[in-house]
Amino acid sequence: MLKIEKIGVIGGGTMGSGIAQVFAMAGYPVLVQDLAEPALDRARKTVETSLSRLVKKGTLTEAKAAQAMALIATTTVFDLMDDRDLVIEAIVEKVEIKTELLKRLDGICRHDAVFASNTSSISLTELAAASAHPGRVIGMHFFNPVPMMQLVEIIRALQTTDAVSDAVTDLTLAIGKTPRVSKDSYGFIVNRLLAPQINEAINCVYEGLATAEDIDSMMKLGANHPMGPLALGDLIGLDVVLNIMETLYQGFDDPKYRASPLLKQMVAAGYLGRKTGKGFAEYHQR
Ligand code: CAA
Ligand code: NAD
Repeated sequence: MLKIEKIGVIGGGTMGSGIAQVFAMAGYPVLVQDLAEPALDRARKTVETSLSRLVKKGTLTEAKAAQAMALIATTTVFDLMDDRDLVIEAIVEKVEIKTELLKRLDGICRHDAVFASNTSSISLTELAAASAHPGRVIGMHFFNPVPMMQLVEIIRALQTTDAVSDAVTDLTLAIGKTPRVSKDSYGFIVNRLLAPQINEAINCVYEGLATAEDIDSMMKLGANHPMGPLALGDLIGLDVVLNIMETLYQGFDDPKYRASPLLKQMVAAGYLGRKTGKGFAEYHQR
């Protein structure tokens, strides 16, 4: 049985900060690595804000929040990942950048370390093929906002071993999340359904059918969604949504996954949603 105690998270953005938080809340020491200090400062601030929301709500004591914060260390030094039992990457959704990272991890980590990708859509089999130890690569797909969302989609590459899959499933349960396994494909289950819906909502704006606000309100009032698809696109990050659509389009080679021209323009303009302060709505900068 694989023992997973020390966690590494690469990329401290929207997802990496939330992933670090939920592991720390469950008592695991976490090391978060990002390219530069400002990104790590933002990650720590995001975790602090989220923990204090939970304390305010009464679901977490101040002492537990402080304990969780103390379990999170941050660094810009990649090689410090060398003592981790599990490294979860939450960097940009580009296959060539993720495969490069996996190769670098091979060079520094122990032979029995597990590498999980939080990819939204990229084939795990393709990622695993880039590693010298493909059996140790697996998808561990968290949802945004990580502290609030129950599901972790576990994606087995063709190469993933049973031992790694079992260990990651047990770990997901140990941090209080619900694992559900998907075979490898593009977008797996949730994003294959969700991203085209967001993309189609963007096409509705592009065609001038209704305002973004009205489209969101229709999906909340008419389909009981907790938030509308455009607000959700802003929460996820429109660059991430575009990357998912491109992976689905190229992976399945099917025009039904074509990205909305407006989605491409929003990304080109830097209107990425909450993280840049502007998407289909405007936000205070975090
Ligand atoms: N940390 C801690 N608490 C948080 C939080 C965070 N990051 N975000 C929200 N909350 C808490 C709030 O404090 C609030 O608590 P109370 O109700 O007890 O006061 C509660 O969550 C609800 O928050 P809000 O009142 O601010 O807003 P809301 O009712 O709209 O809920 C939401 C926010 C949980 C995000 C909800 O709107 C929701 O579930 N939206 C859908 C999210 C979703 O679909 N996520 C999946 C995206 S797809 C993905 O992640 C995969 C991918 O690869 C792209
Ligand atoms: P983000 O842009 O918020 O954060 C990415 C972080 O990774 C940034 O801080 C960046 O500086 C850092 N980074 C980039 N390259 C790096 C490298 N080589 N080494 C170290 N750090 C690096 O992105 P995000 O939204 O957190 O998405 C991260 C991953 O999670 C993507 O694969 C995305 O598809 C996936 N994902 C996103 C969501 C979402 O709702 N945003 C949900 C589930 C999965």
